[in-house]
Amino acid sequence: MKAHVVTYGCQMNEYDTHLVQSQLVSLGADMVEDIDSADFVLLNTCAVRGKPVDKVRSVLGELRKEKAKRPLVVGMMGCLAQLEEGQQIARKFEVDVLIGPGSLLDIGKALESNERFWALNFRDELHGHIPPAPQGKLQAHLTIMRGCDHHCTYCIVPTTRGPQVSRSPDDILRELDMQLAAGVREVTLLGQNVNAYGVDQGARLAGYPSFADLLRMVGASGIERIKFTTSHPMNFTEDVAQAMAETPAVCEFIHLPVQSGSDRVLRRMAREYNREKYLTHIEQIRRHMPDAVLYTDIIVGFPGETEEDFQQTLDLYDEVGYDSAYMFIYSARPGTPSYKHFTDLPREVKTERLQRLIAKQKDWSARRFAAKVGTVQEVLVRGDAYSPGFLEGHTRGQHPTVVPKAVGAEGAGIYQVRINHATPHMLYGQVVDAQGRPLEELPQWTPEAAALSSPLQML
Ligand code: SAH
Ligand code: SF4
Ligand code: F3S
Repeated sequence: MKAHVVTYGCQMNEYDTHLVQSQLVSLGADMVEDIDSADFVLLNTCAVRGKPVDKVRSVLGELRKEKAKRPLVVGMMGCLAQLEEGQQIARKFEVDVLIGPGSLLDIGKALESNERFWALNFRDELHGHIPPAPQGKLQAHLTIMRGCDHHCTYCIVPTTRGPQVSRSPDDILRELDMQLAAGVREVTLLGQNVNAYGVDQGARLAGYPSFADLLRMVGASGIERIKFTTSHPMNFTEDVAQAMAETPAVCEFIHLPVQSGSDRVLRRMAREYNREKYLTHIEQIRRHMPDAVLYTDIIVGFPGETEEDFQQTLDLYDEVGYDSAYMFIYSARPGTPSYKHFTDLPREVKTERLQRLIAKQKDWSARRFAAKVGTVQEVLVRGDAYSPGFLEGHTRGQHPTVVPKAVGAEGAGIYQVRINHATPHMLYGQVVDAQGRPLEELPQWTPEAAALSSPLQML
C-alpha cells in the first residue's frame, strides 16, 4: 500500500502524524510524498477554527472526485474526526476510515476492514505507546500529555481531545532516550497545558514530577536543547521559570498565550487568570531569564469585546513587548459555550482589529530581531537554505537564521553564529568558533561561478 498523510493544525497533530506514519510503515505501507500516487490518503485534521475545517471539506471534495476515477481509500483523523461536525462531513464525502485522536492505534484494524471503519474511543494504551524516533532529524516532538482540563468558552479542544492525561515520566524518558540515540538534539515537549503536567482532572498523580521537575529530569538526559508548548498562565508557577534558568538545555523561550489584555474579556473566556496575574508571571520569567524570548496567542474580536477592551490588549502587547504572537480572529465553533451563549461581532470589526494588532506585532518583532545584531546565537541548522551556498536554522529563541556555508559548517548541526544583519523575520550571520572567530566561508554559488564550472563550459 502507498500511503500519504496530510497534516493540519498544531504540533500535537504533527506528533500524531509521525505516530500514525510509523504504525503504517510497520504494517508494510510505503509512505509517498505525492498524493496522486497514494492509494491511501489520510487527513490529520484540526477543528479549532472554521478555516481549517473548510480546508478539509474542500480537500475531501477533491478526493471524492479522485475516488470515482481510481481505487483510493480516504481517511480522516485528528480533532475534527472526533466531532459530530466531522462525522457529518465524513458521511457526506464518503470517507472510509475515521480515527479520533484517542484511537490512533486502531489504524491497523481500520486498514484490514473491508467496510467503513470508524474508531472514536479514547484508549489508554496510547499514552504508553512509544513511536520510533524520527530518523535523520535533529529535532523531535515529544507529547507529555494529551487532552485538556480547562474550559475556555471559545475552545473545542477539550471536546476533541478529552480530559487531560499525563504520560508517565518513565515513558517520556524512554522515548527521549530513543530520540537521543537516533541523533536528536532539540526536543519540544508538547501538551495543551504543559504546566499542569502530573495533575490530571484536579488530582496530583503519585510518582509524577511537577512540570518544573520534569524539565530538570529531561535536562539531565544529555539532550542539548529543550523547548515546550503550550503553557497556560493559570498553571504557570515561578518554579518553572527557575527550572528553565537553572537547566542549561532548556531554551530561553516561552510561549504563554494571554488571549486578551482585558479582564472583562478574560472572564468571559473563562481563562481563570487576570491581567495582573499574567503580568506577575512575565515579571518572574524576566527576573529569572532577562533575555527570554516571549511568544503569545491572542484572539481578537471575542464576542462583546469593545474598542476599550481591545485597546487594553494593545497596551498589554507594549507592556510585555512580545517577540512574536499567533493572532487569531475569533471563530465561533459549534459545541463551545461561547458559540451557544454569545453573539459574534461583525466581521469588519474583527478584521480591522486584527490589522491593528498585526501592525503592532510587526513593529515589536522588528525591534526584537534588530536587537540581536552583534550578539552570538546558538543556531540549530536543519540543512540547506533556499539560496544555494546558505544554511538555514533557528536560534534557542526560535528566530529563523540564515548563514553562509563555511568550512566545518557545511550541513545540519548546532553552531555558534555571530548575527550581523536582521530583518523583521530573519537573522543573518556567520558561523564562529569557540573564540568567536568567523569560520572560513565556502565559495558561494552565483550564476557566473556555476556557469564557469558547468560541463558545457569545458567543451
Ligand atoms: N491549550 C493552548 C492552546 C490551544 S488552541 C492554550 O490554551 O494555551 C491554540 C490557540 O488557538 C489558542 O491559544 C487560541 O488563541 C486559539 N483559539 C482556540 N479556539 C479559538 C477560536 N474559537 N477562535 C479563534 N482562536 C481560537
Ligand atoms: Fe491542535 Fe487544537 Fe487544532 Fe486539535 S483543535 S489540531 S489540538 S490546534
Ligand atoms: Fe483550549 Fe483553553 Fe484548553 S484554549 S486547549 S480549553 S487551555
